[in-house]
Amino acid sequence: MLPLAPAMFWQSPWLKPLNDTTAWNTLLQGINATWSLTEVRARVLRTVQECREVVSVYLKPNRLFKGFTPGQHLMLTLPCKGVLQSRSFSLSQAPESGGVLRLTIKLKADGMVSRAVAKLKRGAVVILSQAGGEFTHANPEAGVLLLSAGSGITPMVAMLQAWAKHESRPDVLMIHSCRNESDWILRQDLQTLVHQWPQLKIRPVFTAAEGRLDPERLQALAPDFALRDTLLCGPEDFMEWIAAFYREQGLSRQLKQEHFQARRTEIRPDATRYQVFSADGRAVFDTRNGQSLLEAAEASGLNPVYGCRRGICKTCTCRKLGGTVRNQLTETLSGSGEEWIQLCVSTPVSDLHLEL
Ligand SMILES: Cc1cc2nc3c(=O)[nH]c(=O)nc-3n(C[C@H](O)[C@H](O)[C@H](O)COP(=O)(O)OP(=O)(O)OC[C@H]3O[C@@H](n4cnc5c(N)ncnc54)[C@H](O)[C@@H]3O)c2cc1C
Ligand code: FES
Repeated sequence: MLPLAPAMFWQSPWLKPLNDTTAWNTLLQGINATWSLTEVRARVLRTVQECREVVSVYLKPNRLFKGFTPGQHLMLTLPCKGVLQSRSFSLSQAPESGGVLRLTIKLKADGMVSRAVAKLKRGAVVILSQAGGEFTHANPEAGVLLLSAGSGITPMVAMLQAWAKHESRPDVLMIHSCRNESDWILRQDLQTLVHQWPQLKIRPVFTAAEGRLDPERLQALAPDFALRDTLLCGPEDFMEWIAAFYREQGLSRQLKQEHFQARRTEIRPDATRYQVFSADGRAVFDTRNGQSLLEAAEASGLNPVYGCRRGICKTCTCRKLGGTVRNQLTETLSGSGEEWIQLCVSTPVSDLHLEL
């Protein structure tokens, strides 16, 4: 018998168990739940109640985690009622030498993942993605304006902590909007930062007492806003008026935004209705032009898996067997044949066949 070439040797069916990463992962996780050949798995070190309905979870990832730039986010996956669910969360503290990560999470009323995080015990193991996202500003040269509201403060704190370590710190003004002082997420971290970095300017806006931030207040608090690179993160209505204000001022190019919530979709009452069929030809649900397929499926009682609801994580990816959709992020039309689409950012422009 001829000797096998090395590559062929390893691909031999006799050695399949040795080439099966799933089998290896199961074996490794039997020894230590964070060990894996392929997955970033992280151990929960502790959870901390930050304020009403907000918890921070401190995680120690395995060696597969490649690090992050402050401002970036990752996907956290954990079992919720027996099914693995994933959601995006920003890293809320700057990278530190021990490699510990912190996520600071607002507990949503029916939030599957946020509520499960609040119940995590020390030692539990969760799955993480690598970090990603463009909401970063590693080396600011001009002045910076941070505009945040509610949980939108999380990526900002990570950036501030990183800048505080710079030899020449940037000129930063932060305006943070929240209901009142006790709802101010990560306030303690900011107090520590101001102590180390007295030039850091932080202007809270407590909406319960002072009303909402508006263009006049913004200009009064940051008269030189037009000269500053601006980073914006908060609820959609907060972000919408600020983005519109920057557009009016011709300053959109200096505004960087991170959206935590799904895109708001406006469905006109006269929007054309389309039907979605499953692979076996059954009509599964109705959808209207303008509505994302994810929203339409949920409205009809289905529960497709999702993560970010903004076209970032690809958790909602689904095989389209036929029909045309418009990608709401890129405004491009798909082909009419088979391809992968993301349900959260695809709206139909014809009847569809999906592999649901
Ligand atoms: C890049 C990025 C970074 C983020 N960083 C953070 C962070 O640092 N901290 C933080 O607290 N959050 C952050 N978020 C937001 C977080 O991912 C969401 O709030 C997530 O939905 C929470 O998951 P959950 O399972 O608790 O709630 P879910 O179970 O997803 O949702 C709770 C309820 O709201 C409903 N719902 C969810 N989305 C919608 C929608 N778009 N329209 C209508 N109803 C909806 C659900 O049906 C459910 O009833 C981030 C999001 C993104 C995209
Ligand atoms: S849910 Fe993240 S891409 Fe659709």
